[in-house]
Amino acid sequence: MARKFFVGGNFKMNGTIESIKSIVKGLNEAQLDSNAEVVIAPPALYLLLVREHLKNGIQVAAQNVFDKPNGAFTGEISVSQLKDSGINWSILGHSERRTILGESDEVVASKTKVATEGGVSVIWCCGESLEEREAGKTVDVVERQLAAVSAKIGDWKNVVIAYEPIWAIGTGKVATTQQAQDVHAAIRKWLKANVSDKVAEETRILYGGSVNGKNCKELAKQEDIDGFLVGGASLKPEFVDIINANQ
Ligand code: G3P
Repeated sequence: MARKFFVGGNFKMNGTIESIKSIVKGLNEAQLDSNAEVVIAPPALYLLLVREHLKNGIQVAAQNVFDKPNGAFTGEISVSQLKDSGINWSILGHSERRTILGESDEVVASKTKVATEGGVSVIWCCGESLEEREAGKTVDVVERQLAAVSAKIGDWKNVVIAYEPIWAIGTGKVATTQQAQDVHAAIRKWLKANVSDKVAEETRILYGGSVNGKNCKELAKQEDIDGFLVGGASLKPEFVDIINANQ
């Protein structure tokens, strides 16, 4: 079964009403690969703005969600509030939330469980630091992260995995096609051994980390790279080239 090409745009904590409206206008007017599934994740403040103005079949994602139902959790957003707002995706476990905000594997796993069981599909992020890569621990780290989320969720059909080597995020140092393919293949092998052949075959595995309009086509040709999770370039016109990378 061919896995549908998937491109996520992670705006992170960037943008204003005007700049985000301009990005949405550009995407609405662009010629996009109809075989690509596209999801963009603005800051939470702009989720409704983007949802109301976006066309072209592009979906909207939150960049995070809390794992408790509505209640006394100041500053948080619940799964039911995302659904109430017509937001059906969330990025979870981004390395910036793991390292800067201290989200553990278990917290990320709990959020992923609550989101997927509540009808919000998840772009679940994993990846190693430069020190871990240089120590030869890349696959160990990713397998540890996979084991934590696999222990919590029963159904993978609403999960897309994003492998994002931390050393490639925002640095301009994109992983080589071989480096990326090797880890993607290891992730798919882990899914086959620990979940099922079906989940291994059907789960999209995205690459993220300094993807741009120039390097996306070579990366997209790799057997186990099913798309991208894009940061900086998602704020620029070249995001359209990345969406169309599989054409
Ligand atoms: O979530 C995607 C992001 O971490 C990648 O960032 O700017 O290297 O594309 P960037």
